[in-house]
Amino acid sequence: MASSEQIILIGAGNVGFHMGQALTKAGLKIHQVFSRSETKALRLASTINCSYSTSFEQISDEASVYILAVTDQAIPKVAKALASRLKGKKPLVVHTSGATPATVLEPCFERYGVFYPLQTFSVEQPVDFQKIPLLVFANRSADLEWLQQAGALITPLIYHIDDQQRKVLHIAAVMVNNFTNLLYSQAERLSKQHDFPFELLQPLIRETVQKIERHSPADMQTGPAIRGDEATINSHLDFLEKNYPDLKELYQLMTQLIRDTKN
Ligand SMILES: NC(=O)c1ccc[n+]([C@@H]2O[C@H](COP(=O)([O-])OP(=O)(O)OC[C@H]3O[C@@H](n4cnc5c(N)ncnc54)[C@H](OP(=O)(O)O)[C@@H]3O)[C@@H](O)[C@H]2O)c1
Repeated sequence: MASSEQIILIGAGNVGFHMGQALTKAGLKIHQVFSRSETKALRLASTINCSYSTSFEQISDEASVYILAVTDQAIPKVAKALASRLKGKKPLVVHTSGATPATVLEPCFERYGVFYPLQTFSVEQPVDFQKIPLLVFANRSADLEWLQQAGALITPLIYHIDDQQRKVLHIAAVMVNNFTNLLYSQAERLSKQHDFPFELLQPLIRETVQKIERHSPADMQTGPAIRGDEATINSHLDFLEKNYPDLKELYQLMTQLIRDTKN
């Protein structure tokens, strides 16, 4: 039974905060939360009604699963500190990163894996885990089974993928999330400087997203680049060169990529 294992959550930032709540709500037992910051540890521990610690020496060595929801850069260091705390014990240790291979945990633990929720998280923004894909991996099949069972308690969207697949998936996630958001913020910049409301663009943004729920994005491309409308493209480039030289290069590259998909 997935719900009978004692879990310790290390990291109480954006992911730790939401994952801790989702796991608890699903009936899983978070025994303890760790954060270097007492404020963050307490914020989560009081929400999910468990103990907390702010030093590695106080982390319980009795749990069977440790979830490392710490920054990617901190994973090796935290893994090392945890391993020396858990000397002689053999729990399952997983991280929550899309960009980090599971094998980063291999030097420290016999049983390791990944429990990566594919969504953007911020503490202040509520999330519905039922709609979040969870990518799981473990180096042992029994542990993979446990991760799948535990994951299934918080979301029906469970996928088993390996390090290479997760790396490519993470690149794709950066494209659809961070890159599109950069484009939105540049459009907002234009709207502010030319005195029209950014909200004018929101129905277009929504429609674009809704369309790709039913169709391949490759088939849904519209606009001057796919139409081969050179007059409009040149007029845009001319304006950008004079007013936003930093955006001209971006516009040219995007236009070329759209043209290439046509061929
Ligand atoms: N945010 C997202 O949208 C998202 C989505 C999916 C996966 N992830 C992955 O989830 C993980 C956590 O991301 P996050 O957004 O939750 O990060 P975050 O909000 O910055 O929180 C990171 C946590 O790591 C802890 N930490 C950092 N360095 C540490 C160290 N040297 N020793 C101990 N603890 C340390 C921080 O502790 P202190 O509070 O003590 O500084 C904090 O609790 C990352 O691997 C990230 O790639 C993030």
